[in-house]
Amino acid sequence: MIHLENVSKVYNNGIEALKNISLDIDNGEFVFIVGPSGAGKSTFLKLLIREEKATFGKIIVSGYDLMKIRRSKIPYLRRKMGIVFQDFRLIAKMNVYDNVAFAMRVIGSPEKAIKKRVKEVLNLVELDGKEKRKPNEISGGEQQRVSLARALVNKPDMIIADEPTGNIDPDLSFDIMKLLVEINKTGTTVIIVTHEHDLVKEFGGRIITIEDGEIKSDEKYPTKYHEKEADKK
Ligand SMILES: Nc1ncnc2c1ncn2[C@@H]1O[C@H](COP(=O)(O)OP(=O)(O)O)[C@@H](O)[C@H]1O
Ligand SMILES: [Mg+2]
Repeated sequence: MIHLENVSKVYNNGIEALKNISLDIDNGEFVFIVGPSGAGKSTFLKLLIREEKATFGKIIVSGYDLMKIRRSKIPYLRRKMGIVFQDFRLIAKMNVYDNVAFAMRVIGSPEKAIKKRVKEVLNLVELDGKEKRKPNEISGGEQQRVSLARALVNKPDMIIADEPTGNIDPDLSFDIMKLLVEINKTGTTVIIVTHEHDLVKEFGGRIITIEDGEIKSDEKYPTKYHEKEADKK
């Protein structure tokens, strides 16, 4: 579903943020992208969501050739993705319900379907009962769960998250990761950039290390969290 072939990104200032990257990510994978600050992790995600265009190479995402895609088609590409940012990017004036519903309204979903689906995703992220709160009336962890609900509401093929736990407490980070594992279990591809090495070790999955614009390692570990849960049952 994601295919990169000899991809490089050179910014206008001459910085080569990614150098000759080739990799494939299959449907349903759970992938961590790790590496030091400035390594090119965010650039990698920006290429996938076509916020930036690669300078060289080939990128295919969900059947779209991102080197050739027309600007008018980019919104269709993005509908296949749920994007989660470190700083949540919620709309301050809207309550929790409307922040999530908004993502469905902009694509013209009927209000009845919106009501049903928003209830579902708010239940999944355990925010039932907080629908009427504004972002400044809930905690950071809760705000990130709203942004996760918003990313999920249109049933994307993949979730792409850039340091989703960067602005929240460690114990809440764990909950966000657990939710991402749950989401992955339903078949959604999950790609998470993180610097939280402890969490990566805890959750396993595929771990791609980027350093200085290059793939330093790409390894698959068992997703430990699944096993832990199975033990409990
Ligand atoms: N829009 C931009 N213009 C110029 N240089 C950039 C831009 N975005 C990132 N860079 C540079 O590209 C490199 C990789 O950045 P980034 O992908 O944000 O790394 P990471 O997310 O791993 O910290 C860094 O040297 C950064 O300064
Ligand atoms: Mg970054």
